[in-house]
Amino acid sequence: MTTAPTLLAVACAFALAACGGDRSAADTAVGATPAPTAEATPAATPAAEAPAATPAPAATAPAGSDKPAAVVANCATEVEGNDAMQFNVGSIAIPASCTEFKITLKHTGKQPVTVMGHNLVIAAASDMQGIETDGIAAGAANDYVKPGDPRVVAHTKLVGGGQSDTVSFPVSKLKAGGPYEFFCSFPGHAAIMKGTITVG
Ligand code: CO
Repeated sequence: MTTAPTLLAVACAFALAACGGDRSAADTAVGATPAPTAEATPAATPAAEAPAATPAPAATAPAGSDKPAAVVANCATEVEGNDAMQFNVGSIAIPASCTEFKITLKHTGKQPVTVMGHNLVIAAASDMQGIETDGIAAGAANDYVKPGDPRVVAHTKLVGGGQSDTVSFPVSKLKAGGPYEFFCSFPGHAAIMKGTITVG
């Protein structure tokens, strides 16, 4: 009970010192370039609303939106992975006219598969985490994909620098549900190595 008034007094004293009319007025008058407009960070509100609303667009947008779309021709495309743990494309759009689609993963780097291995796994975005976890348990011998994992739509082998692998799958597998993503299941890579894959 005795502390409350004391704190109040201190607060008032501080406020007075900080906002003393004469001093701040003088500062501005001198023309000392007012603090640069460093108040342009409206971070609070959007973040607070994010969890519940709009799951689909929010989940797919950050995947690889800063990278170009894969070049698709004849129901096939090539995706490159490199030594900097990056895919060269952020999205793959499969034409609806394709019944089968082929993806070739080419590792353009020099690092061995044990250090900077890449594969390309396709699955529903909601299954990525589980596939990754089980893939790590399955180990490199299984290309970091649990054998027979029903959540995996398709996947290439794990490749190292200079190597490549091609996988082909029925497009119909992507038509039920989604959104779908492609990602690398090498431990720790999927956070960066991922993108969206759509049909139509
Ligand atoms: Co990788």
